[in-house]
Amino acid sequence: MTHEPVRVGVIGAGNVSDEYLATLRAAPGVDVIGVADLDRERAAAQARKHGVPFSGDTAELLALPGLELVVNLTIPAVHAQVALQAIAAGKHVWGEKPLTLDRASARAVLDAATAAGVRVGNAPDTVLGRGIQQSQQLIAEGRIGTPQTVLTLMQGPGPDAWHPRPDFLFARGAGPLFDIGPYYLTTLALLFGPIDTVQALGHRAFDVRTVPYGERAGNRIPVEVWTHVSVLTRFRSGVVGTSIYSFDSPVRRQLFEVTGSGGTLTVPVSGFDGPSVLVPAGRPQPEPEELMPSGAERERGIGVVEMAAAIRADREPRASGALAFHVLDAMLAIEESVDAGAPVAVASSFDPVPPLDPQWGAGGSWQ
Ligand SMILES: NC(=O)c1ccc[n+]([C@@H]2O[C@H](COP(=O)([O-])OP(=O)(O)OC[C@H]3O[C@@H](n4cnc5c(N)ncnc54)[C@H](O)[C@@H]3O)[C@@H](O)[C@H]2O)c1
Repeated sequence: MTHEPVRVGVIGAGNVSDEYLATLRAAPGVDVIGVADLDRERAAAQARKHGVPFSGDTAELLALPGLELVVNLTIPAVHAQVALQAIAAGKHVWGEKPLTLDRASARAVLDAATAAGVRVGNAPDTVLGRGIQQSQQLIAEGRIGTPQTVLTLMQGPGPDAWHPRPDFLFARGAGPLFDIGPYYLTTLALLFGPIDTVQALGHRAFDVRTVPYGERAGNRIPVEVWTHVSVLTRFRSGVVGTSIYSFDSPVRRQLFEVTGSGGTLTVPVSGFDGPSVLVPAGRPQPEPEELMPSGAERERGIGVVEMAAAIRADREPRASGALAFHVLDAMLAIEESVDAGAPVAVASSFDPVPPLDPQWGAGGSWQ
């Protein structure tokens, strides 16, 4: 069955928009009809570069005839405001992470969407990549028995080392927990279901960071967030997790390791692809088995493509607003736990996310 492509407008023509526009311009299920930004020149440059017919400001984009889905790639501080504006204009909204900065505005976005009869989808869409999808499948097949514990580690020197405008990455709504945490927490939620309780400690190595390179080299950024967070997590399913999120280490290291009653699985958490590494339990210790995923390659923006198929099928997108709300709720609970020095319960929930067909996208069809 083929459908009319979903007409998409992108708001926010910054750093991440290149990857989105490249994926969306190539996908048959969507038609990018406009790009908007506060900075009209930036919007115009991105529209020219990616062959998009219109550029302008948000109000002009929202008035484009036939626009159905807004892709909100603005900075976290305005995610809620831009999403609400798009919903008020009757558009479905895909947003970059985090969903918003607080529970009240996130709830307002989801409630406004329900009232308007439109859907909300949200990054990260790495969870729909071949790598994490394969890990989900392996766990569902019982290849490590029943999952018991999970260990995740994300550390590095921080995004001031590469981002051209890194200031927002050390402001409320970012830092390692809110900027990178969504990749880990969304994967954790996908694999183990809703979180029950978190307990965390925070640390900040520097109160001010000096941008080392790029257009803002020498600029001093006030650090408003914890730049190292250690978290203990209990899932409602009984799984227990240990996680570190840090921008304070010169050593880059990423790990996502699930241990079950029958073995350990390393999940390729940091991108859309990569092998799952299986170590079955047993003595003598079996050799690790590296399993490459099959099917069509997927890149950033694939969540919008999946959401477009969901809109046409009148169902929830897999990377749903409810899932993003739970991840935001968990991140806020982690921050609250740091402040309180005590465990904090996570109240929200979401429906289990069905795995994609491993052959999804094969032959160029993303329905
Ligand atoms: N840079 C990356 O590699 C990356 C990767 C994954 C996710 N993200 C997420 O994508 C989002 C954007 O990040 P970025 O790195 O592209 O930031 P950026 O600062 O490079 O771009 C943001 C753009 O949004 C525009 N903008 C801000 N407020 C606006 C408003 N009210 N209306 C219209 N436009 C507005 C800015 O002018 C800017 O062009 C963030 O939520 C970030 O977490 C970024």
